[in-house]
Amino acid sequence: MSRPLTGPAAGVPVVTTVAELAGHLEPVRDDGGIVGFVPTMGALHDGHASLVDASVAGVDATVVSIFVNPLQFGVGEDLDAYPRDLATDLARCAAHRATVVFAPTVGVMYPEGLPSEGTYANPGPGRVQPGAVALPLEGRERPTHFAGVAEVVARLLRAVGPCRAFFGEKDFQQLQVVRHLVSESGLPVEVVGCPTVRESDGLARSSRNAYLNVEERAAAPVLYRALQAAADAVAEPDWDRVAVESAMAATIGAEPAGSLDYAVVVDPITLRPPAAPAPGDELRLLVACRFGKARLIDNVEAVAG
Ligand code: PAJ
Repeated sequence: MSRPLTGPAAGVPVVTTVAELAGHLEPVRDDGGIVGFVPTMGALHDGHASLVDASVAGVDATVVSIFVNPLQFGVGEDLDAYPRDLATDLARCAAHRATVVFAPTVGVMYPEGLPSEGTYANPGPGRVQPGAVALPLEGRERPTHFAGVAEVVARLLRAVGPCRAFFGEKDFQQLQVVRHLVSESGLPVEVVGCPTVRESDGLARSSRNAYLNVEERAAAPVLYRALQAAADAVAEPDWDRVAVESAMAATIGAEPAGSLDYAVVVDPITLRPPAAPAPGDELRLLVACRFGKARLIDNVEAVAG
């Protein structure tokens, strides 16, 4: 049943089951309307809101899902600590004119139950395969992560049945994993990538920024500074991949609060080192770095000089 809300979020129904969701979307579809979808794990910030805005601008009804997906957290990761604040999230969805919020329980999303310890190391036959693009970078650091993302995104897309689904470039490898799974599965949905929303000092908005202490928060914009400098270097005619990666690592390494996982220049489709980049080719620069309890990722586009 839809829970009525009071206060600033009044007017946004929140549903927890697929049947209730279908009840909200049926009239839209009967009228020939287009459904847009923004999957999230809640703790909504301006980055999430930009996806809702992009959807609302182009469709007739926007579904926002809020579900902290246990399957995409590895053992020892921050599943329990992950910030949860449904009331504030609903107010934000209302302010950005979402049509309905889908906030399922774990039992609704995984009626068969979760694998032990909430991990999902070996997606077997019949499960969603995240593909080769899931293997490097985040896939190496977090080996079960993208299988869990792919599984929940596939289930959410089936539950919502949108024409368009909106994902942030902030999680660039995730966006490519989702593009892969949609093309493999033949789901009739257009995946729309949306630009990264940043704080005024360049730090990409992230729910995990809440873990940063004052010192770490002051240091974290180094990621975007290193990426921007690297994009400028790649645009030079005599650029060298190894030198650019080393310069990013040196810039980030100069911040004592940070501990670098990777800083790379890759092909934007395969996320592997580019074979023989020609002038004008698009590339992607990606970094991951720990600041205390927070593991932050960021990326920018670059065009080879
Ligand atoms: P979450 O981290 O909540 O992010 C939800 C969506 O918001 C993702 O598409 C993400 O890329 C986008 N996003 C996050 N920060 C952003 C920013 N600063 N600018 C623009 N977009 C931003 O990503 C997930 O949840 C989950 O893995 C999910 C896809 C929901 C599957 O569980």
